[in-house]
Amino acid sequence: MIKNFIDLSNFNKKQLDEIISIAKKIKAKPQKFSSSCKNKTLGTIFQKQSLRTRLSFNVGMQKLGGNVIELNSKDIGFDNKRESDKDVLNVLAQYIDCIMIRNNDHKQLLNLAKENIIPVINGLTDYSHPCQILGDFLTIQENFKSYKKLKITWIGDVNNVLISLLHLQNIYLFNLNVVIPSKILKLKRNLLKKYYNNKINLLSDPKIGSKNSNCIMTDVWLSMGDKDKNKIKYFKNFTVTKEIIDIASKDSIFMHCLPAKRGQEVTSEILDGKNSVVLKQAKNRMYIQQAILLYVLKK
Ligand code: CP
Ligand code: NVA
Repeated sequence: MIKNFIDLSNFNKKQLDEIISIAKKIKAKPQKFSSSCKNKTLGTIFQKQSLRTRLSFNVGMQKLGGNVIELNSKDIGFDNKRESDKDVLNVLAQYIDCIMIRNNDHKQLLNLAKENIIPVINGLTDYSHPCQILGDFLTIQENFKSYKKLKITWIGDVNNVLISLLHLQNIYLFNLNVVIPSKILKLKRNLLKKYYNNKINLLSDPKIGSKNSNCIMTDVWLSMGDKDKNKIKYFKNFTVTKEIIDIASKDSIFMHCLPAKRGQEVTSEILDGKNSVVLKQAKNRMYIQQAILLYVLKK
């Protein structure tokens, strides 16, 4: 059976602990892993912009001794027009060992993975961003002795990063405040309900949601491919400012997957400030993805 990395909800705690533990080992002693992907090739397909995911997969794979080839989906005919997706996957599998895809259609990703031809890694879809959140969990573990009693607060939209955060919470059961503008909460309550448990609070007031929180996490109010520009007006008072960080716990960290819209979801003072771990998050993407590569490539 081919191993994929599509969503955190496909894994149990033991499996994710194992991936995180390998990421920690790679980070501590990178030279020990410098030929662990020798003669292996990762193909990447980006149907949307990417800086961090593109670079961290590319450099991460090279540091494991492997190769990377960036494939333009239109150029290779990955659109079911010239030939079927299944035929493309079957041919790709003759040359490369796994594929990372960033697209706007989670269902398409699921269908490609279902073909069971070559390992597929989710590099972000409209629905989820599991590599990001698993990397963020590594950053959280590096900043706190234990995640068990932590309170994490999400302030922002219902988007791909939040869905992966909810998947993670459902496995690790830390306290999570999800602070969403009330108009959006009304529309998305049914989707959010699927992930609800007694450690999750659904709120609409960022000040109440940040109280005593150990980690304030946010993201852009309008994700790539989201055309609903009108909703920006609902985010008044949702900017992460010094006032929000002051309400949070003294040891709180500020997290953002980046790219950020400075002055919108977060002020520059906070993004560049002492509580911010955003660059650490970007760096940890590489270690977690190296561990994910080792996981999907292991026979
Ligand atoms: N955080 C993240 O995935 O960044 P990119 O969109 O630049 O890859
Ligand atoms: N929610 C953002 C994440 C970018 C890494 C987006 O999808 O644009």
